[in-house]
Amino acid sequence: MEEQKKTLYSAVQPTNGLTIGNYIGAIKNWVQLQSEYDCFYAIADMHAITVRQVPAQLRQKTLSLLALYIACGVDPEKCTLYVQSHNPCHAQLAWVLNTFTYVGEMERMTQFKDKSAKHADNINMGLMDYPVLMAADILLYQTDVVPVGIDQRQHLEITRDIAIRFNNAYSPTFTVPEGIYPKVGAKIGDLLDPSKKMSKSAENANGSIFMDDDRDTIIRKFKRAVTDSNTEVKYDPENKAGVSNLLSIYTAFTGKSIEEAEREFAGCGYGDFKLAVGEAVADKLAPVQAEQARLLADKAYLDGVLKRGAERAYYVANKTLNKVHKKIGFYQI
Ligand code: TRP
Repeated sequence: MEEQKKTLYSAVQPTNGLTIGNYIGAIKNWVQLQSEYDCFYAIADMHAITVRQVPAQLRQKTLSLLALYIACGVDPEKCTLYVQSHNPCHAQLAWVLNTFTYVGEMERMTQFKDKSAKHADNINMGLMDYPVLMAADILLYQTDVVPVGIDQRQHLEITRDIAIRFNNAYSPTFTVPEGIYPKVGAKIGDLLDPSKKMSKSAENANGSIFMDDDRDTIIRKFKRAVTDSNTEVKYDPENKAGVSNLLSIYTAFTGKSIEEAEREFAGCGYGDFKLAVGEAVADKLAPVQAEQARLLADKAYLDGVLKRGAERAYYVANKTLNKVHKKIGFYQI
């Protein structure tokens, strides 16, 4: 008998272009996890609209993100790849879960406070409700595990609280998900300020390498990366944050170990080292970018992937939603 795989859920917002930090911290993991788990991977467009989006860009970014994931090796035959808004169950379950979530809990969420400060002119209900929608995403699929970065940890904790609260109020309904927190690459730093996480919305774009940066741009940005006044290529995040960050990137892109990389660059100046890191990244990204462009030219294929994804997502999610509606006393016909 085939062993039942555990269910894994993850999602990404189709907002700004992804950086190699997202690639190392998320996309690469999605690829590695897809054979071990029954994976549901969503493009979270409903979360994206909690801050104002330009409609044409949101549409374009949704498709381009899908193409990027497939180009990176996420296989639509192995996992369920879909757009969140294509499955109405998310909004429906979020509504029910709202009644099991306290306003005070949402007001205390770190990301809500940060985003409220950043978008003070648009502190909408969706921004505050964001974690409840995320809980609905996860709980609809009876998810066992959720790979999340540290920034989403609090949202996963509240998801667990909501699930337990509902299960206790009725009877076991939701699987209570566990977080898996990837170690390597979870925190690729900004090239100009390695103490900060490499971000798609950093003030200075020269500190971030985007997945669609061309070779010259990549090499130019690495040339400017901060190092230190020493000359040794050695992994020491406390005293050599810049060099260590570059080593992390290099190893993530080449599959080499830190020790191998240190040996390779022993006695080598920082200039040559930075060039080598830039070349390794550019070499790896070129075929991904070409494949992404090829896929984007085949819209019929991408639409087919999303259609099949939405059908499977709906089939699974709707079972959970029906159970929930029954338990809370919605009249069934
Ligand atoms: N909020 C997540 C982020 O910005 C994206 C997301 C939406 C998500 N729903 C999710 C992540 C469910 C994991 C599980 O990164």
